[in-house]
Amino acid sequence: MDTVLSGIRSTGNLHLGNYFGAVRNFVKMQHENRCYFFVADYHSLTTHPHPDDIHENIRVVISEYLAAGLDPEVATIYVQSDVPEIPELYLLLNMNAYVGELERTTTFKEKIRSQPENINAGLLTYPVLMCADIIIHNADKVPVGKDQEQNLEMARRFARRFNHIYGVEYFTLPEPYNFGHDLVKVPGLDGTGKMGKSEGNGIYLADDPKVIRKKVMRAVTDAGPQQPGSPMSEPVANLFYLLELLSTPDTVEHFRSQYNDCSIRYGDLKKQLAEDTIKYTTPIRERISEIYHDDDYLRKVVKMGAEKARESASKTLRDVREIIGYRPF
Ligand code: TRP
Repeated sequence: MDTVLSGIRSTGNLHLGNYFGAVRNFVKMQHENRCYFFVADYHSLTTHPHPDDIHENIRVVISEYLAAGLDPEVATIYVQSDVPEIPELYLLLNMNAYVGELERTTTFKEKIRSQPENINAGLLTYPVLMCADIIIHNADKVPVGKDQEQNLEMARRFARRFNHIYGVEYFTLPEPYNFGHDLVKVPGLDGTGKMGKSEGNGIYLADDPKVIRKKVMRAVTDAGPQQPGSPMSEPVANLFYLLELLSTPDTVEHFRSQYNDCSIRYGDLKKQLAEDTIKYTTPIRERISEIYHDDDYLRKVVKMGAEKARESASKTLRDVREIIGYRPF
């Protein structure tokens, strides 16, 4: 059984791209692996030194992941700042992380450009904290997107270096895990590319029906098929793709044949897509709201997660201190 770990940013709601992409895979994986999912709320301080409402953001993120199907009885779901062993390991790893290699990290160089007024040491050592997150549970696999591959490579490097410096085979080198064929890439509503937060082309699990209708009705299309058999443009193919995810096969077939004989009216397709999206997301949205308003439940989930995470983390820390040479008198 593998140990799988993933860090979740504390800001940003889940859109359908996240849902059909990573989150549904997490839900499946939790039954086949030892899974750790945590909210990376310390990392958020590197970009938001005065978080508007860090507690509120964490509550939203956790409610959404639970509503999407992560099971706190099965996986270990916790908040990074509830596990003091993580910053302790981070401190120890920092002693063997070199400024030069950290300065060369792509994400750091990007931050120098995007927030020149706040190039803090936390940004520089972001990959070290991420490494601590991962190796504190000796994770084997870390599902990551393209943008996090280098950070994961750094984590492997720091883990390898620890083993080398202290002459042990203690830390597992974490492997990037990509879902392969299971990874559904959901297109956005703006005609090209995939659904993303920064693209502003997404439908969110928490969007209410009015918002969903408005977004879908505004989706980019084209001038319509000019003759039977003419190839489908990207914006229209994207709408069909969404329809396939969210509607019944009959509905998809209905609009496909209308497309093929050029009788399709995109307005009808969008109306149907909007209603089917609403039908799909409504139970999830209601569950998000239920969990979000249930203080007792949230408290219980987070407490249980912290206890399970600390059990594994404190064992690692005990070993690491011993390996480095800190011993009780
Ligand atoms: N850096 C990741 C992101 O921006 C979040 C993260 C923090 C993470 N610690 C992690 C991801 C550990 C995987 C493993 O999305």
